[in-house]
Parts: sequence; structure tokens; C-alpha cells
Amino acid sequence: MRGFFLKEDGNYLDKTNMDSSELSLLARHSGTEIMLQKIKENRTFYIDPSENEDLMEFFYVLSGRVLCEAEVYNKEINVNDYFYIKNLEETIFFKALTDVTLMWISTTPVFHYISTRINELKKLVKEVEKKDRYTLNHSERVQEYSIKIAKKLKLSKDELDNLLISSVLHDVGKIHVSEQILNKNGRLTKEEFNIIKRHPVDGAAMIRETYYKSTSKIIEQHHERLDGSGYPNGLKGDEIVLGAKIIAVSDSFDAMTEDRSYRKAIPIIEAINEIEGLSGIYYEPEVVKALIEVLKEEGKI
Ligand SMILES: [Fe+2]
Ligand SMILES: [Fe+2]
Repeated sequence: MRGFFLKEDGNYLDKTNMDSSELSLLARHSGTEIMLQKIKENRTFYIDPSENEDLMEFFYVLSGRVLCEAEVYNKEINVNDYFYIKNLEETIFFKALTDVTLMWISTTPVFHYISTRINELKKLVKEVEKKDRYTLNHSERVQEYSIKIAKKLKLSKDELDNLLISSVLHDVGKIHVSEQILNKNGRLTKEEFNIIKRHPVDGAAMIRETYYKSTSKIIEQHHERLDGSGYPNGLKGDEIVLGAKIIAVSDSFDAMTEDRSYRKAIPIIEAINEIEGLSGIYYEPEVVKALIEVLKEEGKI
């Protein structure tokens, strides 16, 4: 029948996915888009304010449970609950308590924008994966800790977006390091360590060629330390951007608490003691404090 459109389950106009989420475009008409978003259990995600005053974004929970972590509305959202956003003032964080499916209706097209960005990001992440499966899992954990820390520190929208991308790509420059060095059992020689030390600069150069160039500074600085003892440039204190200070802490924490080819993981509490001992020397104190709060809230310490 003219004017009637029936699509069966699994039918969509377009689809994009990262490993923790999947977005399908079901229908679009005069600027409005209707999408289905699936998010994996335990993922933290957020919705940003938009400069577009006409934009309304509507979300309906089709399955699963979500924790809304907005200050005034800190509560669980369940099946058949819905919320919408119009002239949002502040970023809102959500946590998927189970696998979640949301119906998402946007009054301005967003799908193409999101899928283009995701595809570019996926290409970069694939580069990392090709080299080293460890680096990929590590990057995803660093991203998760970094976002949780950022939530405590109330970053601006741009800082948060840059952190989300740079945390998962922070070690992308390691694709230029040989596998023998990356996976070496035992201590690295000075020459080998010098090769590893190039990865922040190489990674930043790679990112500068992409849509995500605004994150290159964070990537370049993620091994800098407050007292100037880091690399590649020995920057100190406020010369280091906040995003890089956040990744420095989540990166070190993850490296200590996961097994590596050259040493075994240490318990969380020991890692935190070590990081706390270096607070104000290597690491930004407010970032260390935020990580401790996150781990306490999650019952890990
Ligand atoms: Fe690194
Ligand atoms: Fe790392």
C-alpha cells in the first residue's frame, strides 16, 4: 500500500558498531531520524549538550536497565521508561546495568555524523589490534577508567570528547614498535626502551592526519609526569593537559593491575598505594583522588 512501510526484525537502513555498542538507523524523514542503540552491560556513556537549540533527542528503554547519573536524577531507568533532551545544560552520564536496547529519535540527523566518526576510529583501533591484542584490551580499560575519573572532575564537553577518543588511542603509536620488543619477557635494554618511548610522538602524528586531531596533544603527553621526569618532552605541572594527566593515572593503574609479558599483576590496593605515593610527584593529586573514589564506589578497595 502506498505510504505504508513495514520492515521486519533486523531490517535497517544503515548500521554502525563498536564492540561495546551498536547503532542502527531504522528510518529518517525531513531531518528526523529513528535509531536503535544497543549498549553492552557495564559501559559508561554520556549525552552532551548541543549548540542546536531546535534539537530534541528522545530515548525509550526497550530492554535492560540503565543508571542515570545526572546529579538531580540519580536513578535507575527501566523498560518502558523514557527521557528526552532539549537545550541540555550539562553532560549527563549513564551506566548500562545490563545489556540495554534504546529507541533513539533525533529531530536533526546525527547518524551519518556518528557512523563516519566511528568508522574512522575503528580503522585506527584495528591498527592497534593487528599489532597487539594486549594493547587493545588495555586501551579499552584505560578508556573506561578515564571516563569515570573525568565524571568526578567535571570536564567540559570538548575535554570529555577528546578524552574518550584519546584514551582508547593513546598507544596507537606502538604499531611502529616491533612485536619482539612489545612482548619481550624480562627487562628491556636501553635501546629497546628508547624505541618504545617514541610511541607518544608517533601516535600524535598519526592522529593529526585524522578527524581526531584535537586529541593529539593528549596522546603526545600521556607519559609526561608532573615533576618533569616523563617523556617525550619532560613537561612539568601545568604544561601537561588535564586529559594526559588523567590517562597517565588510568594507564599506570591498568599496567600495574594486569599481567604483562615482563611481570605479573599486583593487587589493586598495592597499585593504589604506589600511585598515591607518587601523587603530586608523577600524578595530578585531584586525578589520583578521583580514581580512589571510583574504586571505592565500585567496592574494589
Ligand atoms: Fe603509552
Ligand atoms: Fe598505555
